[in-house]
Amino acid sequence: MSYTFTWYGHATLGLETGGHRLLIDPFFSGNPAAAISADQAQAEYILITHGHGDHVGDAPAIAKRTGATIISNFEIASWLGKQGLKTHGQHIGGGFHHPFGYLKLTQALHGSALPDGSYGGNPAGFLLTTLQGEKLYFAGDTGLFGDMQLIGEEGLDLAVLPIGDNYTMGPADALRAVRLLRPRTVIPIHFNTFGLIKQDAEAWAAQVRQTLGCEVCVLQPGQSFVRA
Ligand code: NI
Ligand code: MN
Repeated sequence: MSYTFTWYGHATLGLETGGHRLLIDPFFSGNPAAAISADQAQAEYILITHGHGDHVGDAPAIAKRTGATIISNFEIASWLGKQGLKTHGQHIGGGFHHPFGYLKLTQALHGSALPDGSYGGNPAGFLLTTLQGEKLYFAGDTGLFGDMQLIGEEGLDLAVLPIGDNYTMGPADALRAVRLLRPRTVIPIHFNTFGLIKQDAEAWAAQVRQTLGCEVCVLQPGQSFVRA
């Protein structure tokens, strides 16, 4: 059992598992919280939850430079495929055995228009079962939904949840999400990038620990969580 999860700021995530390197929602250029620049980012696979600019971000440029395969919903994968990039399209509820593990797209309550106004399909989250069997849930941008309970039934090692409010769940609903998901560890993201989504993550973490007894790991942009 081992993986390394890195928060690069906002919803930009890195994951190293089974000798593979993944990037999720790589938004570096124009991201005031970004811990590194787009040309420093390394990836074998790039996962995109939805079409918004703060999630598609630098994916095309990084994919071009690294040769990474982009995995997203069918509409976003097609849009990027037309730019000559290597893509793999999936959709909500569908899983696929990739070399790094079994990746399933989950529902998310949000929008998904692409930066040029193209239709970006439905927004998604990701449920990854690693080659070692750990289940990692990346909620994406979403509001609270009751079917998080179904995702929790899978037995989650890690849940990565937005807590910023305004565009996604805020702290109160994110706490309710943890109650439904019951992960071993939860990591908050999508906060403090801009004033509109400023939150006290440590206060939230204390509340989650106290009321749910769940392990919370509050990272600073650039920091990693290592499951040994
Ligand atoms: Ni969004
Ligand atoms: Mn967002």
